[in-house]
Formats: sequence, structure tokens, C-alpha cells
Amino acid sequence: LSGDPLASFRAARADPSLAVIEGFHALKHALRFGAEIVDAVTCDPDGLAGLAARLAPDVAVAIATLARPVVSTSMPGSVLAIARRPAVDLPKLMSRGEAPMVFLERPTQLGNLGAVVRVAAAAGAAGVLTTGVHDPWHPHAIRGSAGLHFAVPVARVDALAPCERPLIAVHPEGERLSVGKLPSDAILAFGTERDGLSSELLARASARVAIPMRPGVSSLNLATAVAVALYVGGGLLHSERPDRSRASGTR
Ligand SMILES: C[S@@+](CC[C@H](N)C(=O)[O-])C[C@H]1O[C@@H](n2cnc3c(N)ncnc32)[C@H](O)[C@@H]1O
Repeated sequence: LSGDPLASFRAARADPSLAVIEGFHALKHALRFGAEIVDAVTCDPDGLAGLAARLAPDVAVAIATLARPVVSTSMPGSVLAIARRPAVDLPKLMSRGEAPMVFLERPTQLGNLGAVVRVAAAAGAAGVLTTGVHDPWHPHAIRGSAGLHFAVPVARVDALAPCERPLIAVHPEGERLSVGKLPSDAILAFGTERDGLSSELLARASARVAIPMRPGVSSLNLATAVAVALYVGGGLLHSERPDRSRASGTR
């Protein structure tokens, strides 16, 4: 093979119609949730096949078929892939549904953003919308979500448009969060890591809910707050939804 085997992967980072997937776990989830893979390369075909056989037998054949061997010392992990970003139907997402939507106002940390997508996908949220300068499909965010961007709609918007869903501000100064009491079709809004929610968003929200904390603790990590709101406020821990703890199988 001649030339730079990773040049097309670097170019794909700047293409808003594509997503760059770094690492085995991210590719595993991407395939499991129907990602359309455009290209994939590996610098360790045997190691990758072993991982897939052990941790993801359901997609092992797909991974072996897709990943072209390349010689590279600069790959982040044993496998790299390019996928098409799934289209997001914003009007449908904003209309009333049966699952809550997560809204992140100007998140600053791509790892946090990915961790939010991961928990939103696990909890069955309707989608994750963000504002601000960061592309929620940045490769570091996809790594942070372990590829679960393909399991839940994820998009960046200029601003949160008014919609029928009730807007709930999840904010350290609010009414104490109660188990299962958040409306199932709410937009749950979370603020930026340092400054929290903007005064505009707080003024628009129909309610403010707080996750109780011991005195002296100023706030929870963003993704942790999203997890508590979805699982506790959304009552998921008490629901009869089928889940992996009952259906054994893939990892
Ligand atoms: C790291 S916190 C921001 C902290 C910021 N200094 C503040 O006071 O809002 C990021 C976001 O996580 C959510 N959050 C963190 N801890 C929370 C809590 N105890 N109750 C409700 N929301 C919380 C909020 O949405 C917050 O804007």
C-alpha cells in the first residue's frame, strides 16, 4: 500500500455528513445499531478478530469483512471507520413523544457529551440535542459514547425551538427530583459544565428540578446528572421495559 492510509479518515473529520469512529467498542455499537460504514481499516487484524469473537460475536463477521488491513503507527486504537451520519428528523423529535429528550446547553467537554449520549441511548431517550460550538459528532464524543450515537438521534441546533414538549430545567437550585415524576415527554435541559443553564433557558422552563446533594458539593458531573434525571426522574428503574439484565447475550 502506498501513500498515507489514514488520509481519507482525516478528511472525513471535516465532513459534516460523515462520522469518524475510533476503536473497537465504538465500531461494535455502530454496527449493532445499523451504521452505514463507508470505510474501515485496522492495524491489527488478528487482535481485532480476537476482540470481536470474544466481545461481539454478533458483529464479528461484519467487522472482519469491513476492516482493511493497513500499516500505521498513528492509529488511535486497533480500528478506525468512517460512517454516514444518520439524518435527524427535528420536527418529529420536537413533537410530543413517549420518551424524554435531552437538551445540553453549550456543553464544553466532548467526553462528557459522549457520556451523555451513551446514557441517553441506554435509557431509551428520544434524542440528544446540543447548542454551542462543539460538534456532538466529533470523534472524541463518539469515543465517549462508545459508538451509541447510532442508537439515538443526536444533533446540534442553533437554539432550542419552542415546542409542545414541556421544558424542564435540571438545575441545582430547584424542586427536589422525585422518582418517576418527570413528564415522560419532557425536554430535560442541562447546563454547561462551569456556568450551568442560562437565565434565558431557566426563564423559559415550566419547572426546575434539583438532584439532592450533600452540603458542600456544588454540582454533579453533567453526564451523571443526565443519568440520574433519566433513570430516577423518568422512573426507568421501576419500569417493566425489557432490558439487557434479563436478555443475556452481547457485551
Ligand atoms: C457541572 S454542572 C454545572 C454547575 C454550575 N456551576 C451550576 O451551578 O449549575 C452541569 C449541569 O449538570 C446539571 N446538574 C449538576 N448537578 C446537578 C444537581 N445537583 N441538580 C440538578 N442538576 C444538576 C445541571 O443541568 C448543570 O447545569
